[in-house]
Amino acid sequence: MKKRLVIANWKMYVGAAPEAKKFLAALKRKMLSHKSVEAWIAPPFTLIPALAGKGAVKIGAQALSAHAEGAHTGEVSAAMAKGAGASFAVIGHSERRAAGESEQSIHDQVVRAAEAGLVPVLCVGESERTQDGAHFNTIESQLASALRGSQSLLSKLVVAYEPVWAIGKSGAEAMKPSELEETAIFIRKTLVEVLGREQALKVPILYGGSVEAENAAALVAEGGVNGLLVGRASAKLDSFLEIVNACKK
Ligand code: PGA
Repeated sequence: MKKRLVIANWKMYVGAAPEAKKFLAALKRKMLSHKSVEAWIAPPFTLIPALAGKGAVKIGAQALSAHAEGAHTGEVSAAMAKGAGASFAVIGHSERRAAGESEQSIHDQVVRAAEAGLVPVLCVGESERTQDGAHFNTIESQLASALRGSQSLLSKLVVAYEPVWAIGKSGAEAMKPSELEETAIFIRKTLVEVLGREQALKVPILYGGSVEAENAAALVAEGGVNGLLVGRASAKLDSFLEIVNACKK
C-alpha cells in the first residue's frame, strides 16, 4: 500500500459549520506537503454538504441506513449521503452496534454503500480479551458476516479494527503495538479467506481506539496497520495534525 490513511471520526464532537470549515481548510493546506499519508473526515451528516468538495481530503458519513428507501424515519440512505457529497461511510462502529445495529444491518449497509459508490469503512472489534483467544472468533465472524457474498462489489474497502475496550480511553490504555500486530495479521488472513488474496491485499487495515499524538507513530510502525481511525483526538486540529504527521513514511 503506497499511502497510509488517517480517518477523523468526529462523532458529535464537531457540529458548527464555521469551525469545521476552518479545520478542513487548514488540514487541506497541510496535506499538500504529506505525500505518503491521506486524511479523511467523517463529520456528522449535517456537515457533509458544507465540507464536501474538491481537494485531497475525502468527506464521509459515520453511519448509513441499511435500507435503500422507504418508511425509515430519521435514517439517511447511502445514495443520499453520496448525493450530499460523501465519498465513504463508516459502517458497524461499536457505538452503532451498541445502539442496536445487527450483523445483518451492517452487512446490508456495506452493500448499500458499495452500490452507491461509497467506500465502506467497516469497523470490527471485540468487547473484551480473554486468555482463550475468543476475540479472534469475534473478529472473524464480524468480518465474514459483513463481507461474505458481496466480494464482487468490494473493489474498494477499508477495515478498521477497533477493540471496544480501548475506545474513548487515554493513550496509555490503547492497545499495545505488539498485540496489534498479531491481530492485524489475523485480519489480513481472514480477508484473504473471505475476499480472495488479490482483493484482500488491497484493503487498508486501520487501528482505532484511544489514538493520540503520543502513541500514533508506534501503532502504525510496529502495529503493522496501514493507518488509524481517530475519535476524540481528531476533533482538535492540532492533535489531528500531529497524528497525521506521525503516520508519514
Ligand atoms: P477514540 O475513538 O479515538 O476516541 O478512542 C475511536 C473511535 O471510536 O472511532
